[in-house]
Amino acid sequence: MKKLLAILLSFSFLYSCQKDEVSNVLDEQLSAALTEYSNGIGVEVFQLPIENDLANIPQDPQNPLTPEKIELGKMLFHETGIALAPMRNFSKGTFSCASCHFAGAGFQAGRFQGIGDGGVGFGLNGEGRFRHTSYPGDDLDVQPIRSPTIMNGAYQKNMLWNGQFGATGVNIGTEDAWTVGTPKENNFLGFEGLEIQAIAGLKVHRMVMDSVLVYETSYKELFDSAFPHSPANERYTLQNAGLAIAAYERTVLSNQAPFQKWLVGERTAMSNTEKLGAILFFGKAGCVNCHNSPALNSMEFYALGLKDLVDCPEETFKTTPDNPQNLGRGGFTGNAQDNYKFKVPQLYNLKDSPFYGHGASIRSIREIVEYFNNGIAENTNVSVNQLAKEFIPLNLTNEEVNQITAFIETALYDDNLKRYEPENLPTGNCFPNNDPLSKNHLGCNN
Ligand code: HEC
Ligand code: HEC
Repeated sequence: MKKLLAILLSFSFLYSCQKDEVSNVLDEQLSAALTEYSNGIGVEVFQLPIENDLANIPQDPQNPLTPEKIELGKMLFHETGIALAPMRNFSKGTFSCASCHFAGAGFQAGRFQGIGDGGVGFGLNGEGRFRHTSYPGDDLDVQPIRSPTIMNGAYQKNMLWNGQFGATGVNIGTEDAWTVGTPKENNFLGFEGLEIQAIAGLKVHRMVMDSVLVYETSYKELFDSAFPHSPANERYTLQNAGLAIAAYERTVLSNQAPFQKWLVGERTAMSNTEKLGAILFFGKAGCVNCHNSPALNSMEFYALGLKDLVDCPEETFKTTPDNPQNLGRGGFTGNAQDNYKFKVPQLYNLKDSPFYGHGASIRSIREIVEYFNNGIAENTNVSVNQLAKEFIPLNLTNEEVNQITAFIETALYDDNLKRYEPENLPTGNCFPNNDPLSKNHLGCNN
C-alpha cells in the first residue's frame, strides 16, 4: 500500500513538474512574441498603469488629472440628479451617463442599444431596460449604434466609432467637418476626444448643471476643490463638469485583469490555454496588427463588413439603413474611401455586455473570433475592395479559436470594476437609473 502511494505521489510530482515546464515554455514564448512585436521594448508596451498613478495615465495637457477632479467626475458620471432636461417631465432625474455605461456591464450598456432618457427598468444587468410606453421612439435618448465602453478611453485621442470627437490626433485637418450647430462644433474648444465627448455628451444626453442642485449638495465643495482657479461665476458649468467626467474616465483602467497581472510578473495569473491564445493573438493570428495599445485598441479605422444596429432582430429606435453612423469614419469625413471603416475597439471585459461589433450583430466572443477566422463579410453593402486587407481566412483550427477566445474572455477580464463606482451620490439618488422600476431592480427602495 505504502509502495503504491509512493508511486502515485511520484507520478503526480512528475506530472506537475511537466505541467510547470509547459507553462514556463509558454511564458517564454509569450514574452518573446510581445518583445518581437514591440521592437525589443518588451512587455511594458501593453501594461496599463494603476488608476491612482496619475502621472503615468495618458491625459490632455489642457485638462491635467487631479484627485479632486476625478472624484467630482466619478459622481457626475453616475449622477441621475443632473438629468434635468428630459423630453417628458416625469423622466426628470431618472438617467445618467452610466445608464449606458455602467461598471457591471464593463462600462457598456448591457443591451444591444443603450437607452437614457425615456427608458425604464434595469433588470439584472441592463438587459431589462425598455422604452417607457409614453415615449415615442423618436423622443428616446438613443444612438443608432452600439454603446461602446468608456473603460481604457485614456488610450484613445478621438472618440466614437467614427472618431469624430477630439481636436487632435486623427482629426487634425478635418476642421471642415466640425459642423457649427452640431455636437461636432465642440471640437473647436481644442481638447482631446474624451474631454470633447463629455462636454458634448452632457448636452446630447439632456443634462444640466443646475445652481440649486450645486448649492444644496456637496457638489459645491467638489467643484471648488476640482476647479479652484475657475472664477466663481464660471466654476459650476457644463464645461467643467465635462472636464471632470473626462478626468474620471481616464482613470477607469482594467489593470487587474489576469493578462495585466502576467505582464507585471505574476506567471500563474493566466492558464496555459489563455497563454496559447495570447501567443496566437500577438503572433500568427495577426490580431495585434490592429489591436496594439495597452487597451488593445488603436486609433485606426478598418472595414470588417459587420452589420449595423438596424439589422438587429430586436426592436431598435432611430435606426435606419441610411444613418450616417453606418458609414463609420466616412460618415464623418465625407471621404468615400473612409466608408464602412470603424475604430479599432479595446478588448477588455467584453463578456460583461455580450453584444459585439458596432451594430451588436455578434453575440458571443467565440463567434467574433470565428468571424475573423472565416474572413467573410456579413454586410453585403461593403464591397470586397473596401474590406481591410488583413480580413481574410486565417485557417485557425477549432482548438486555436478556443484558445484565442479564452484569452479574450477571461485573461482580458478585470473582475473588480466596482471600485470605479461611487458608494453614494451627493444627491443620495439611485444610479445608474432612478426611475421607479429601476429603483426596484437596483434595490434602491430599502
Ligand atoms: C443613451 C445611451 C447613452 C448615454 C446616456 C450616454 N452614452 Fe456615451 N455612448 C453611447 C453610444 C451609443 C456611443 C457611441 C456613439 C457613436 O459612436 O456614434 C457612446 C460613446 C461614448 C464614448 C466614446 C467611447 C469610444 O470608444 O469612442 C464616451 C467616452 C462616452 N460615450 C461617454 C459618455 C458620457 C460622459 C455620458 C454622459 C454625459 C454618456 N456617454 C452618456 C451611449 C450613451
Ligand atoms: C485589420 C484590423 C484588425 C485585425 C487584424 C483584427 N481586428 Fe478585431 N476589430 C477591428 C475593428 C475595426 C473592429 C470593430 C469593427 C466593427 O465593429 O465594425 C474589431 C472588433 C473586434 C472585436 C469586437 C469588440 C467589440 O467591442 O465589439 C473583437 C473581440 C476583436 N476585434 C478581436 C480580434 C481578434 C481575436 C483578432 C485576431 C484574430 C482581431 N480582432 C484582428 C480591427 C481588427
